[in-house]
Amino acid sequence: MKIVIKDDFDQISKHAAELIASQVVLKPDSKLGFATGSTPELTYKYLIDIYRTGRISFKEVTSFNLDEYVGLGEDHKNSYAYYMKNHLFNHIDILDENINIPRGLSENLEGQCRSYEDKIDLVEGIDLQILGIGRNCHIGFNEPDVKFEATTHVVKLDEDTIKANSRFFTSLEEVPRYAISMGIKSIMKSKRIVLIACGKDKARAIKDMVEGKITPQNPASILQLHQNLTVLLDKEASSLLSSI
Ligand code: GLP
Repeated sequence: MKIVIKDDFDQISKHAAELIASQVVLKPDSKLGFATGSTPELTYKYLIDIYRTGRISFKEVTSFNLDEYVGLGEDHKNSYAYYMKNHLFNHIDILDENINIPRGLSENLEGQCRSYEDKIDLVEGIDLQILGIGRNCHIGFNEPDVKFEATTHVVKLDEDTIKANSRFFTSLEEVPRYAISMGIKSIMKSKRIVLIACGKDKARAIKDMVEGKITPQNPASILQLHQNLTVLLDKEASSLLSSI
């Protein structure tokens, strides 16, 4: 595990964008795994800036998103499909047919989870997966007590996650209670992972992930076993780490 600590959110976001851009330069047909939430927003902004300089193209890139709320269609402003269009896809030259996001309105959720995982297997795993982290140490929507061996599946969201994510909705009641998420096993298949965290709210989760016991209670702790993980932190998110 490589830990990079920068002074602030701006610097880690720039660094993350540069890592994604170099992945695309070195392998134009990269399979990229994207995350949502407020953490990667600035990374995507910097990535768009790099794209606009004309130095990189996403025409050959295939993308996979980590998760989606059950019950929200791609036109719903809180869906992750909408988020991705708004924050990244509408601003770069990625082809629509190369974008993969679980469909929250699917009538056959189980079948869709299986075919999503099959697609990931078909491309032999994601080349570079971007991750954020929840305050309760979740990655994607893999909540505490997750089964490490799970692949893409339907998840019941934790109360803490519902509360944390309610800031994007007009009320707590509006937040969907279920989501489709790539599982820990799907995430661990990625060849390279870059996890971004900022702010003191994430310090506990980062400590548990980096220095804690590897246990389903702290889903991100499994990442200690990943062979190619980079953790990008601002000072606050790294503040509880004893090993640095
Ligand atoms: C959601 C997403 C995660 C994300 C997490 C943290 O629950 N499913 O992928 O990492 O929120 O989000 P934020 O970056 O807004 O703190």
